[in-house]
Amino acid sequence: MAKIEIPAAQKSFECPEDDTILRAALRQGLGLAYECNVGSCGNCQFELLEGQVESLYPEAPGLNERMRQRNRHLGCQSRPLTDCKIKAPMRDDYKSKILPVRTHGELTAMRDITHDIREFRFRLDAANPFLPGQYGLIGVEGVNGARAYSYANVTAKGDEWHFQIKRVPNGSCSNALFDRVKTGERVSLDGPYGMAYLREDSPRDVLCIAGGSGLSPMISISRAFSASEKLAGRTLHFVYGGRAMRDLAGEDMLKELPGFGTRIFYHAALSMAEPEWKGRTGFVHEAAKDVVGGKLSDYEIYYAGPPPMTEAITKMAVENRVPVAQLHFDRFY
Ligand SMILES: Cc1cc2nc3c(=O)[nH]c(=O)nc-3n(C[C@H](O)[C@H](O)[C@H](O)COP(=O)(O)OP(=O)(O)OC[C@H]3O[C@@H](n4cnc5c(N)ncnc54)[C@H](O)[C@@H]3O)c2cc1C
Ligand code: FES
Repeated sequence: MAKIEIPAAQKSFECPEDDTILRAALRQGLGLAYECNVGSCGNCQFELLEGQVESLYPEAPGLNERMRQRNRHLGCQSRPLTDCKIKAPMRDDYKSKILPVRTHGELTAMRDITHDIREFRFRLDAANPFLPGQYGLIGVEGVNGARAYSYANVTAKGDEWHFQIKRVPNGSCSNALFDRVKTGERVSLDGPYGMAYLREDSPRDVLCIAGGSGLSPMISISRAFSASEKLAGRTLHFVYGGRAMRDLAGEDMLKELPGFGTRIFYHAALSMAEPEWKGRTGFVHEAAKDVVGGKLSDYEIYYAGPPPMTEAITKMAVENRVPVAQLHFDRFY
């Protein structure tokens, strides 16, 4: 067990040898900055003032050579070899509302959602709940490093974690889950993480925008929205973007929700639609703006998907004067 000190914040915490500095801090209620948890965004960078760490993913894209030379490290990929002193950005909104725990889970069921998105359901050894819109980490034997996947279900107890996962061409974890892991088999699980969860205290209507694999957290948010007493007077628009008709997803899951058609509405936009498609065409962010009649700032906006899509939505929202506090998103690196 190593002691990690953050002198500027007068904080310290314990980090087991097999954990990472970021995750150990979050498990103990400290608000270290982060986003992706998988070495891609660079938000969890810290400066090592004293001590030694080892990187679990030395080639992680979240850190460039210049930063490495300046003794910067990624909190989500660094395991301590000695006690350490670090300089790291901290903020209260990074503090976990539900402390993340490490456990294992058994794959109990799978179902295909589209030609390349499948739902995977795990029953956990040690239950831990999550907030709709958050994500967990899945570790599969034989795959280097854990991967982040957003929850699709809602649960009070947290004994079931469901994920909707897209098969990525040549991707090691997604293909292992699709082709190798069988029902009854076990994976390691860790969570919950992430800040893009449903704000039940918001007085605004809700706009959910999902691109491709971004389906899962938007389904979880919609399910929680439908059941929320606090949001009973509000409306939710769900806008899904894909390329072609075979990518369409989500409407069947929304149709099951109380309020569908009266205060929960589904819209789809295809960027490379077939001639027979009668619905919206073009990019999903443009469709979302059209759906709300341009009044984006009236909405609490949740979105998830590939970085180019999330960046296009953020840019559009800022140009339309939506306060950043109303934007909640995860970039799916
Ligand atoms: C917050 C968040 C939520 C996400 N939610 C979903 C979701 O709900 N559904 C979905 O389909 N996808 C989701 N993703 C994307 C998902 O995490 C994977 O990136 C995707 O499945 C591709 O993984 P792969 O292993 O198949 O591909 P690969 O190309 O093998 O791996 C790509 C990803 O793994 C990371 N990685 C690669 N090597 C290592 C290593 N040694 N150690 C640690 N990390 C490594 C990369 O940084 C990159 O993020 C999410 C991503 C993030 C960041
Ligand atoms: S949180 Fe560590 S690189 Fe994104």
